[in-house]
Amino acid sequence: ASLSERSIEAVADYINNKNVRKVVFMVGAGMSTASGIPDFRSPGTGLYHNLRKLGLPHPEALFELSYFKENPQPFYNITREIQADQCRPTFTHVLIAEFYKRGMLEMCFTQNIDALERKAGIPADKLVEAHGSYATQSCTICGASYPDDLMAVHVVEQRVPICLETNCGGYVKPDIVFFGQSLPDRFFNSRSLPATADLGIVIGSSLSVQPFAHLPDLISQEIPRVLLNNQIVGSFGRRPDDVIFEGTCDGGARALAMALGWHDDVEREWLR
Ligand code: OAD
Repeated sequence: ASLSERSIEAVADYINNKNVRKVVFMVGAGMSTASGIPDFRSPGTGLYHNLRKLGLPHPEALFELSYFKENPQPFYNITREIQADQCRPTFTHVLIAEFYKRGMLEMCFTQNIDALERKAGIPADKLVEAHGSYATQSCTICGASYPDDLMAVHVVEQRVPICLETNCGGYVKPDIVFFGQSLPDRFFNSRSLPATADLGIVIGSSLSVQPFAHLPDLISQEIPRVLLNNQIVGSFGRRPDDVIFEGTCDGGARALAMALGWHDDVEREWLR
């Protein structure tokens, strides 16, 4: 398969005319900024640029297991702000759900912990939450789970929850993947899917954290790859069939939806 030109319209023609059935999405924080959740690395607005008040040795320490085990308070000072309970999916999230409805979604790999993919209607079996989620929490020493209602109170009050097991005393952390922790089994069990995809679409990621950042390179050389992001990232641009939309994620998603003839369906669903 090859594209006649490197445009969003050419991608839409490819999808509509080549019986595309196995689309793999690989997404990150840039997809959710339009719903009010900061990303990590954007200059000025990214979370890592706004942590000075927490007194961390370096910004990523906020999500390092070794640092958390010594000093969990900074994480709990900020987690109320990044949990994003009230946020709604973006147009882009809903477009991915539309691929699912049309039987074309092979898998959506996400680095996001905001669970907006689920809210948009992407079912759990088409989702790899590679960096976990806030849905559950557990002790960093004994691994015991911790009740949701107690967790919610601690997050709101910015207090560190302590394990309830007798004589443990470990700090409790949401089951999001920290640096120093392994990704969920589901990520490794699904990692063969990009290689057999008939289209790969990367949205809103700087592709700077491994092993996730490697996924787009697993897409087969003959298969088109699409990037919707406000900057060029990873190995995009090095293959003849790479299509780059350099702009907002929603702008790219709308252009693609328009070219596919799906725009009004997605818009209606998004506004619902
Ligand atoms: P980053 O903050 O590293 O990258 C977000 C990308 O999206 C950047 O390239 C931005 O320029 C771009 N971007 C932001 N808003 C956008 C918009 N509205 N339209 C288009 N592009 C936009 O976020 P991730 O790549 O998701 O991991 O970060 C990866 C991992 O690093 C996160 O999962 C997190 C973090 O440390 C852990 O905490 C384990």
